[in-house]
Amino acid sequence: MTGPIHITPSGETLGARITGIDLSQPLDPSSVAQLRQALLEYCVLVFPNQPVSDEDQVRFTGYFGSARAHVRKQRERRVKEIFIISNVKENGEPIGALGSATVDFHSDLSYMPRPGTISLLQAIEIPQEGGQTQWCDCRAAHDALPAQEQRMLSTLRAVHRHPVPEQNPPEPASHPVVRIHPETGRPSLYVSPHLTSHVANMDEAGSEALLEGLYAHMDQPRFVWTHHWQVGDLLMWDNRPTMHRRLEFPDEQRRVMKRTQVFG
Ligand code: SIN
Repeated sequence: MTGPIHITPSGETLGARITGIDLSQPLDPSSVAQLRQALLEYCVLVFPNQPVSDEDQVRFTGYFGSARAHVRKQRERRVKEIFIISNVKENGEPIGALGSATVDFHSDLSYMPRPGTISLLQAIEIPQEGGQTQWCDCRAAHDALPAQEQRMLSTLRAVHRHPVPEQNPPEPASHPVVRIHPETGRPSLYVSPHLTSHVANMDEAGSEALLEGLYAHMDQPRFVWTHHWQVGDLLMWDNRPTMHRRLEFPDEQRRVMKRTQVFG
């Protein structure tokens, strides 16, 4: 049985810690509704000490939408919806994606026409140094811009491409630079240094200057919140109003994470 859920906001513009819940057990509809509401408000929820099985992680993900296998292929795994993020190699082959270098700010799968909405990540093994994940509150970053700039940005679209060409769909995906959240109605900036290639219908120099300006604006401490992982942490985040960045860590240290995803 699950008792009352405790929600402790991080004190920053996003992020909250959720306790008083056991994710290995089925959740009742009112608990799911409470978590949905918290996710809309805080964008990133931290569930400490929830070392759940693959099946339980997929079941929990399914409360928030359809948990499907990741669009990127990975070697055969027992539960196909689980996507491994890791620098570990077995027999010379990586067991997962993303290695140990910094993965710059991005919103998951923005290079797809229908990007990821909610992502979940469970820490199985963590390095002693580095490997933190940071989230940018793109709602707050948008709201802090002058009204005239907000209006100008709301007329633009940007093209998103994965840096590995074969991971892209045949037709490049484009999305509004200011994205309106379908549930909260709040606008947020939806461009990222990792996955946005350029602003549509703008010359290269103009597009680059505009995007670089936005990235510098978004990457200010007042909009960015950092999570220092512990083994057994499970985090859930809403990709629509946030970008996240994984910091580098020494490649000889192991980091193994299990990811599930709700597609938009
Ligand atoms: C990601 O960039 O989606 C992975 C985040 C992480 O490994 O912390």
